[in-house]
Formats: sequence, C-alpha cells, structure tokens
Amino acid sequence: MLYIAIALFLPLLFYVVRARRKTFPFPPGPKKLPIVGNLFHMPKKGFVWLEYAEMCRRYDSDIIHLSALGNSIVVLNSARAVNDLLEKRSSMYSSRPSTTMLGELMGWESGFALRPNDDIWKAQRKIVTQAMPPTDPKRFHSKQLSGTHDLLRALPQSDDVMKSLQTWAAKFIMDITYGIQGDEAKLYLCTAIETLNSIAVAATPGAFYVDQITILKYIPEWFPGASFKQKAREWNKLRVKLIDDPYLVTKARLAAGTATPSLTSLALEEIDHTQDVAHQEEIIKLASVTAYGGGSDTTVAYLGGFIIAMLMNPEVQTKAHRELEKVLGPGDLPSFSDEPTLSYITAIVREVIRYNPVVPLAIPHLLTQDNIYKGYFLPKGSIIMPNVWSILHNEEDYPKPELFNPSRFLDAEWKLNPNVKDPATAAFGFGRRACPGKHIAIASLWITVASILACYTIEPELDENGKPIKPKGEWYSGPTLFNHPLPFKCRFIPRSRDMEASLGVSLS
Ligand code: HEM
Repeated sequence: MLYIAIALFLPLLFYVVRARRKTFPFPPGPKKLPIVGNLFHMPKKGFVWLEYAEMCRRYDSDIIHLSALGNSIVVLNSARAVNDLLEKRSSMYSSRPSTTMLGELMGWESGFALRPNDDIWKAQRKIVTQAMPPTDPKRFHSKQLSGTHDLLRALPQSDDVMKSLQTWAAKFIMDITYGIQGDEAKLYLCTAIETLNSIAVAATPGAFYVDQITILKYIPEWFPGASFKQKAREWNKLRVKLIDDPYLVTKARLAAGTATPSLTSLALEEIDHTQDVAHQEEIIKLASVTAYGGGSDTTVAYLGGFIIAMLMNPEVQTKAHRELEKVLGPGDLPSFSDEPTLSYITAIVREVIRYNPVVPLAIPHLLTQDNIYKGYFLPKGSIIMPNVWSILHNEEDYPKPELFNPSRFLDAEWKLNPNVKDPATAAFGFGRRACPGKHIAIASLWITVASILACYTIEPELDENGKPIKPKGEWYSGPTLFNHPLPFKCRFIPRSRDMEASLGVSLS
C-alpha cells in the first residue's frame, strides 16, 4: 500500500515542482550546460565576492542563480534582497548546507556554525547568547581591556604584524571563552592556531575535490590520491583536543571555586542537574569551541585591515590622534566610557568593517523550502550566498565606496550620523544565523583601535637607506570565503613616554 502511495506521490511532486518552475523561472544567471550546469562559471580564484558582484551587474539583477553538479546556488547582491529573504523569511533561509571535508570528515558539523538549524544548534546558540548578552556589554570589558594592553606591549616587538595579532587573539579569546589567561594560555596556543589554520584551508572553495564529488569520502585512506582523508583525520584530532583540553581545565577550576568568568564557566553554572548532565556538557563544549573558532581569525583580519588602512591613509591617523588628544590626558589609555566622546575612532572602526569585510559572503545559508521571490523560483536545498561586500560597497549608502573615508559616518558636528547605515548590520551576517559574538567583537575592535592610536603612530617599514617603504596593503587573493591581509611589516612609534608608565613597560 505504502509503495503504491509513494509511486503515485513522487510523480505528482515532480509535476508540481516542474509546474512551479515553469510558471516561475530561476533568477537570471549564466547559461547552464547539461549535467555540470554552471560548474565552469563558478569563481575559482581571486576575490570571489567581486566576481559574483560582477555577475550580478552583467545580468542586471540583485539576485542570480547558478547550479553546479546538481547544487542550486543563489547569490543575493543587495541589502533589500538580503533583508527580504534572510531577515523577513528567516525561518526558511537559516539552515546550513553540509560540507564534506570541513563538516563531515573533520567533524566541525557538530559545532553550531555549520550545523543545520536543529535543536542542538539552538541549544548551543543559546549558551553563547546567554553568556554574551547584548544587553550586558560590560560583562567582558575588564578582559577586553587587559587583553588590549597585552597587545600594546607586544606590537613594537612585532616582526610580522599578522602573526603577532593571531597569537594575541588566540590568547585573548581563550580568556573570554575559557577564562584561561596569560602564560597558561600558551599551552593551548599551538593546537588553537593549528586548528584555526586547518579550518581556513578546509573552508577554501575548491581546496578538496571531495567537497564537489562527495562519493570520494568513501575512498580508504591508503588509496593513491586519498591524502585528504589522512589530513581530515589529523585535523579532526586537533579539533577534539581543542574541544576537550581547555574545557576540562575550566570545569575543574569551577569545581575548585577558582574559575574567572568565561563563556564556558557561565554555561557550566547554568547546567540543570535534574536533566542529562553529560548531554548538556557536550553541548557546552561544542558551543565554546565554535565561539572560540568564530571569534579569533575574524578579529585578527579586521585589526590587520585597520593597521593597513592607517599606513595607507596617514591623514586619517592624524585626525584620530587629534581627537584622542582632545579627550584623553597625557599618558591616559582609552577606556570604554570614552566611546561617546571619541566619534572619529568609532567612525574609523565602522569604515574598517565596511571597507574590507572579512567574511564577505557570510557563511552560506540553506533554503529549506521551495520559495518564490520577485517572480523567481528558488528551490528548496539552494545554497544562499549574501554578498556582504556588495552591500557595503553600494554607492547609494556609501558614496565613493572605493575610498577609505571614516568621515562618511559623521555629521557636520563631528557626531555619528544616524542616517548612514552602520556596516555592522551586514558584516556580521543575517537573520537567525547572525553572529552571536557581534557585540563583543565590535567592542574589542573599538577598544583595540582606540588604544593602538592613543599609544602609537603607525608608520611604514624603513629600507636599508632609512627610507620608508611604500606599504602595499595586499590581501590574500586565493580562493577563500575568508578575506584577510597578507603578512606585512610596519613600525609602531610610541607617541609619548607617559604611556610607558600606564602600561608598565618601556615601549621604545
Ligand atoms: C570581527 C569579528 C567577527 C566577525 C566579522 C564575525 C562575522 C560572522 C559572520 C558573517 C557570521 C555568519 C552569519 C550568517 O551566516 O549570516 C558569523 C557567525 C558566527 N560567529 Fe561571528 N564574527 C566575529 C566575531 C565572533 C565572535 C567574537 C564570536 C564568539 C562568540 C563569534 C561566533 C560566531 C558563531 C558561533 C557563528 C555561527 C552562528 C550560527 O551559525 O548560528 N563571532 N560571524
């Protein structure tokens, strides 16, 4: 009976889908070839978000459709389209597509950034939003401030700015996530950095054929050409180590009454002992490690972008120094309470976030139902890519978007102009998947930018003749969904001896 029902139902479903597709076409996009679809049109190298933006211009549409080996892909190129779909229809546009290398083989699909929106995703997300509520922005201020001062002490010795920032962020986010501080954090640093690097490699589109041809995942590890399986196994081991080691330290400290507040300790305190404790602990572990992974490299890439912007636009730095001199006394380091009076610093942070968004296509969303938008048919199972870069480089919202110009966010009285859209509304993602660390990330960027500018003048490296080397300001141009600066050098010149007393070190 069941077989008869299925036999009758399937052709009917096929007919209904075909009929909808006939009535409502797919959004425009490059012509699809038989079987492979648009496989050869997919951007494979360079800044893929720029290529998608160009495709949208070519088809004169803020929504385009591609298909590759049976996957339906929709690119949304305007704030309007993103708002209409990912925000207003969030219930059907908020799952995640599966990824074979990163998700399945390396195990990251169990963490909530890549998980479909099921109950475990909800539970993990709740842990992070409860520990870092936007309503209590001060909760981690003292950790953010002491982390920033650590960075100020480290910068003048830095040989490779990006590397120093990565080491610092891995330590600083370890404190926020697990309450593990100072030199002790170094014990976990190697695993953390290696793990983050493995994620960056595996998330690179086209890096592993198994992501396109998923059947390859069944090949045994010893088979010629299957080295990806060995890599996945090793990288999975790193993931498990990063999940377990710092978590167990925090748990033991909480039991001993010596834990400093952190995402993990706050979540452990909320455990309901009348329910399955092991299950709750597993969820806390996954939430913590996902938050750790989500917050580290993103913050590093934006701070790298900020330093490059200061090197390329010295006049912006001069204006910032003038503002800081008006507000702070000699030797004073900024604190969060200075934010309302340091509008130009806030404008710099906004422009850094806008100018080179570090997650320019967000993390792809998955559409879980057939949907019609603007007369186009968007099939269930489509991978949705919001083009954050296009939204933040839109001429209407940000005239002359190619210029780094923090003043665009200020009015004639040097106050933040509420009519200019805050780029954070796009740079941290959308709908139910919007970044749960957004508030803490913005606060960290703000205090770090303000403090670096208060303490230092950022200047280019000198060549062997003592002449400044023109900064190139290069960003990684390989195929990646994560936009980040290439390694570079520069000099941090202390602005006053008074700062040395505030930081308790010699900066020269
Ligand atoms: C400047 C720093 C950061 C940037 C630019 C950033 C950006 C983003 C973006 C674009 C997404 C994807 C949103 C979407 O799919 O629509 C995201 C998700 C996420 N972010 Fe962040 N983020 C930052 C910092 C942080 C921090 C500090 C945390 C720590 C709590 C964090 C944790 C996460 C998590 C766990 C997700 C996945 C959310 C989900 O899938 O439900 N991020 N972030």
